[in-house]
Amino acid sequence: MDTEGKGIYLDNAATSYPKPECVYQAVDRFLRQCGGSPGRASHRKAREADAVVADARASVATLFHVEDPSRIVFTCNSTESLNLAIRGSLRPGDHVVLTDLEHNAAVRPLWKLREGLGVGLTVVESGPEGVVDPARVAEALTPRTRLVCCVHANNVLGTIQPIAEIGHRTRARGVPLLVDASQSAGVLPIDVEAMGIDLLAFTGHKGLLGPPGTGGLYVREGLPLEPLKHGGTGVYSESLEPPDVMPEGYEPGTFNTPGLAGLAAGVRFVLETGAARIGAHERELNRRFVEGVREVPGVRLYGPSDLARKVGITLLNLEALDPADVGRILDRRFGVMVRTGLHCSALSHQRLGTKGRGAVRFSFGHFTTPADVDTAVEALRAMALATVS
Ligand SMILES: Cc1ncc(COP(=O)(O)O)c(C=O)c1O
Repeated sequence: MDTEGKGIYLDNAATSYPKPECVYQAVDRFLRQCGGSPGRASHRKAREADAVVADARASVATLFHVEDPSRIVFTCNSTESLNLAIRGSLRPGDHVVLTDLEHNAAVRPLWKLREGLGVGLTVVESGPEGVVDPARVAEALTPRTRLVCCVHANNVLGTIQPIAEIGHRTRARGVPLLVDASQSAGVLPIDVEAMGIDLLAFTGHKGLLGPPGTGGLYVREGLPLEPLKHGGTGVYSESLEPPDVMPEGYEPGTFNTPGLAGLAAGVRFVLETGAARIGAHERELNRRFVEGVREVPGVRLYGPSDLARKVGITLLNLEALDPADVGRILDRRFGVMVRTGLHCSALSHQRLGTKGRGAVRFSFGHFTTPADVDTAVEALRAMALATVS
């Protein structure tokens, strides 16, 4: 039971909460003590802000094993990163291979380009366990394929995709691989070179434990990419043409520098703790939760039985109740906060047969405790028994 009234936050796949203390301090310190605009002046506050951005870039590069930090472009979130990668890569008549596990942040820009540019799309279906077969991705490639788009960990089921095996095949065929790391960055080890990733979209506010409004895109050297936006970059200001330089050419306008200060702190926390260790903790909580709710009458669990193939996400329904009611009762009566309904991934819900009423998603974070999980299980048990009697 939530005795302190603060609630038990199990919606970490939407955004992580709480953040490590160092993240709050970094944002506060930047706003109070620095406050300069990076890349725009040479006075001390601007130089300090430059150092904050450089530190964030270097930390992210270290986490993803990127040798040259200038290959990391900062954006507002994964949605912007995916739009940049997709819109920046494709031309009329190109073909794209994606999976049926993609988030709307990837699917919708692709659907718009299908209408607008006549881009061809092939959706590869995942297997019964919610995992895509790399051989089927390779089979879908055509001479016109200019991009393969694959989520690393799906946000509805949490299933982890075999990115290295897919990357091995796309590299062999010379097709760029775009990976959506929104649910995996910070909880699964990522090495862009070893995994054959050409474009890696990440968001700052989930597993990287940073503030909302931060994110980025890794772009492999030599990969042509059109910017999404144009404007002041702080470099080549004499030119009316947007500068073709990495990363500034893709980052016009003033940064969310306090956010990047927080992101750098979050990523440092992940580096010090270890993404694999954080992921293992979240998987263990997931296992505890699934073992508990399996015993609850009327619970329908979705997704693979092999929990090692998932991040810390579980999707379920209580047969007798609408998912929205489950979420409302969990919050109001038991203090447990979860996400309900459809989870911004129309293709995943279509595949699961949950497109009508959706489902309830529990997602665990670094600061979730086993006692939090037990409270959620007991709350579901109490609700299930109340609906039976
Ligand atoms: C797999 C996946 N991709 C993309 C996104 C979009 O992230 P953001 O809202 O930070 O842009 C999310 C967010 O839920 C996600 O889970």
